[in-house]
Amino acid sequence: MHAIHTEDLTKDYALGFWRKRPYRALDRLTLDVEGGEVFGLLGPNGAGKTTTLKLLLQLVFPTSGRAEILGRPTGDVAVRRRIGYLPENPYFYDHLTAVELLDYFGRLLGLSSADRAARIPRLLDQVGLGAERRLPLRRYSKGMLQRVGLAQALVNEPEVVFLDEPMSGLDPIGRRMVRELILGLRDRGTTVFFSSHILSDAEAACSRVAILAGGRLVSSGRLADLLAFGIKGWEVVVEGVSREVADKLRAGAASLTPIAEGRYTVELPPSARPDQVMAEFSSAGASVVSINPVRDTLEDFFMRQVAEHGHAREVRL
Ligand SMILES: Nc1ncnc2c1ncn2[C@@H]1O[C@H](COP(=O)(O)OP(=O)(O)O)[C@@H](O)[C@H]1O
Ligand SMILES: [Mg+2]
Repeated sequence: MHAIHTEDLTKDYALGFWRKRPYRALDRLTLDVEGGEVFGLLGPNGAGKTTTLKLLLQLVFPTSGRAEILGRPTGDVAVRRRIGYLPENPYFYDHLTAVELLDYFGRLLGLSSADRAARIPRLLDQVGLGAERRLPLRRYSKGMLQRVGLAQALVNEPEVVFLDEPMSGLDPIGRRMVRELILGLRDRGTTVFFSSHILSDAEAACSRVAILAGGRLVSSGRLADLLAFGIKGWEVVVEGVSREVADKLRAGAASLTPIAEGRYTVELPPSARPDQVMAEFSSAGASVVSINPVRDTLEDFFMRQVAEHGHAREVRL
């Protein structure tokens, strides 16, 4: 059984007022997420990520295709209690405090008052909300609301948690908090399905990703395989390089960039071999400070995929 399974999941929205015409936000998405995985749904704005999550949460209904969570059709009442959801723009009762809001959701989900009293303060600590938890939400910044939203998504200790752009609106410290929270959930066996247009966050937290562009799945797989983490070249830092040696190096390298007196960064093609590089540089009278492989990043990969599918203009990183 998959934690999440979709088959040809498709959503058309009706555009226009007098004369409605369908707009395909999601086009035949077929996807499997295993239990305990951290799965990233990536893509530029407008790719169909939020639509996918809303279909899985049954906030909107598919035009065609189907989806299952924990082996049951979406919307199954028993399954609802076992999942958590952070919406993209969490709507909150903004006169409530964070504590009151979580207590309210906890009650809706049927948690006992003992469970709520034990869990809520722990969750708020985990997402990094301090004394402000006793202030009404209307006084919160976007980042603080995002933290409350995360705590809300976890209040029932869900087996599967859906997070729509969980890192958005957060500063670097907040992003790290979310990443650690996600990794902590994974360690406890929770399945995490999150969307993001920010690739470095996904790179740090996911085991597998799917990339959407223009409503279509353009790639999916293990990050390591997708990226083929291919070496694009080598970056070598050398020092003790005279003008003549520099000229000689320039002839054989893809590029040569001066860093300081006698010190250069040399870019070499992927075919270069580190041991030979060391030998050649020493015999030319230079000493090698470091040799680093230059790899494809998820950003490079994403840009290429999106460009190939004709959606490069929509990319906002
Ligand atoms: N309720 C709606 N009515 C009409 N079009 C919509 C609606 N919701 C989303 N869309 C359109 O569907 C596409 C996908 O949107 P969305 O799933 O929100 O993308 P993402 O979350 O990847 O940014 C976009 O072009 C968006 O404008
Ligand atoms: Mg979205």
